[in-house]
Amino acid sequence: MTSTPHIDPHGVPIAETVLLPGDPLRAKFIADTYLDNPVQFNAVRNMLGYTGTYQGTPVSVMGSGMGIPSISLYAWELIHAFGAKRLVRVGTCGALQTDLNLYDVVVAQGACTDSNFLSQYRLPGDFAPIGSFTLIDDVVRRARENKVAVHVGNVASVDAFYNHDETVNQRWASMGVLAVEMETAGLYAVAAEAGAEALGIFTVSDNVVTGAETTPEERQSAFTQMMELALPLAAL
Ligand code: HPA
Repeated sequence: MTSTPHIDPHGVPIAETVLLPGDPLRAKFIADTYLDNPVQFNAVRNMLGYTGTYQGTPVSVMGSGMGIPSISLYAWELIHAFGAKRLVRVGTCGALQTDLNLYDVVVAQGACTDSNFLSQYRLPGDFAPIGSFTLIDDVVRRARENKVAVHVGNVASVDAFYNHDETVNQRWASMGVLAVEMETAGLYAVAAEAGAEALGIFTVSDNVVTGAETTPEERQSAFTQMMELALPLAAL
């Protein structure tokens, strides 16, 4: 039975579609709330993972941890050792533009980064990490049908949550980058190299420009909206 340094499913199957919230307890919450018959497949380092079904389709959900080094190792193992074909990060982001409201949904069409992670691919220039168009198209169509405010564009996957350079967000913003988060460029690169599909979907938890912040209760309903956009991707 396959296991890896960070995932030991002890025989529990992992679905082709894996949702990746940052927080492992979020993964447990998603499994308990949205999946039928969830079974835990991982507890290594408390990075909880579960497999169940959503409207009859197998789906797994597992914590990714924070940052590109963490999400990229889990994504790599899920794809290369366990056959995952579609990875969907569900998380929060800090808005960089004034027209993004708290709780709006952001879909990462592309993911810039200040990380050195992509240098391992030894490309002769900058790689542009992009989300799967099939997944973007489906999420955006359903968001519009359900009148959910959705913004599609670039995010910046940054290494430093507390950046010593206080002007850095302004510079990403000046290039039209919608929001800042910490994982998606790594996820997209790992998926691209493996020929897998990936997408990052976020709710705006704070606005870096205006200083607006959400409350925990409000975050929960925004989270539900995002999950209702993400879960049907398993059936594509
Ligand atoms: N920075 C990085 N990641 C984030 C932020 C932020 O301000 N907000 C939510 N995720």
